[in-house]
Amino acid sequence: MKVAILGFGTVGQGVYEMLQKARDLEPGPVLVRPGKADADYKVTDISAITGAPSVGAVVEVLGGIEPARTWVEQALQAGKHVVTANKALVAQCGPELAAVAREKGVALLFSAACGGGVPFLHNLALSTRSDDILSVGGILNGTTNYMLDAMQSRGADYAEVLKDAQQLGYAEADPTADVSGLDALRKIMLACAVAFEKLPCEGLYNEGIESLTADDVRHFRGMGYTCRLVAKGGPVGDTVFAFVEPTLVPASAAECAVKDNYNLARYEAKCAGDIVLIGQGAGRYPTASAVLRDLSDVIAGQRVMMPQACVRVTADCSGCGHPYYVRLPEAFAGKLPCDKVAVDNGIARVITKALTVKEMHDTAAALRTRGAQVFFAGIEE
Ligand code: HSE
Repeated sequence: MKVAILGFGTVGQGVYEMLQKARDLEPGPVLVRPGKADADYKVTDISAITGAPSVGAVVEVLGGIEPARTWVEQALQAGKHVVTANKALVAQCGPELAAVAREKGVALLFSAACGGGVPFLHNLALSTRSDDILSVGGILNGTTNYMLDAMQSRGADYAEVLKDAQQLGYAEADPTADVSGLDALRKIMLACAVAFEKLPCEGLYNEGIESLTADDVRHFRGMGYTCRLVAKGGPVGDTVFAFVEPTLVPASAAECAVKDNYNLARYEAKCAGDIVLIGQGAGRYPTASAVLRDLSDVIAGQRVMMPQACVRVTADCSGCGHPYYVRLPEAFAGKLPCDKVAVDNGIARVITKALTVKEMHDTAAALRTRGAQVFFAGIEE
């Protein structure tokens, strides 16, 4: 099958390279920006792909919503299978694009959009056929895991490790979505859609690591904890809960051993129990390999990953909770139900009583509107 590629950045180049060596697959035209077509396989007009009868599948690795959405829809309408690594696109437009794919009888697979090289959504989708999924989650962003690991293990500085993660090809073109937790949130949205046929669009919470300091990391270490950016999702009533937040995990937790750009994706199935997958969650070849795995699934007959019955829902994060570690100005510490407080130089470090995710994230947002600098992390019990 000849495969066209939309986008020739870090992942696009990896996909092109892997296609050259693949069995049953060969590289087709690559869509690049006007002025960048410096080889005969590069084109600048989508119609050179959608109108090419020899192209059987299109890989979309542009990122962002437009023009990716328009071009993916055009490719599906033209009867091409589509494999995408674009989590923002699927989280926002997945159900509509899936409907077009179904109407045209072509594939729309996106396991490369969640977990990089870790076959998370692929296995999750497989498990839903024979088991009930009870929860999904894990470390789903390679950039922040690389940063947190480097800050904790070698005391590295935030700005320096973010630059390293960008140079290593882990971060998004604009790393804001990585460090704010939004990238991981989009991934847990996709996992909820696949696992529970519910795509949460509102009522979601994501807290990132932008306000984390080397001092915080020193304190976690002193308490025997490691900080990881963890996503969680699960069914609740007619909807789901879904959130992302820095989480302090004890040395015994599997998440603690997840290093560098690795991800740990887990789900609990009613009969199978806990399933845990660990592997590289970001980078050229891990993500390109996930794209090629999806292309092989297309050849094997797999079609639309988004369940047909999937509906958009408002998430409910008011039922799940745990204690939190919160660093904030001493003057605001009274706003939290404290179990322990340590104050040094006007800065309070608080261990709260159990709070719901909604309570903690809403409280932090309210404190920030009053000018307070706040960092918080859930504590895994
Ligand atoms: N920027 C993403 C990450 C790439 O760091 O996880 C893989 O989705």
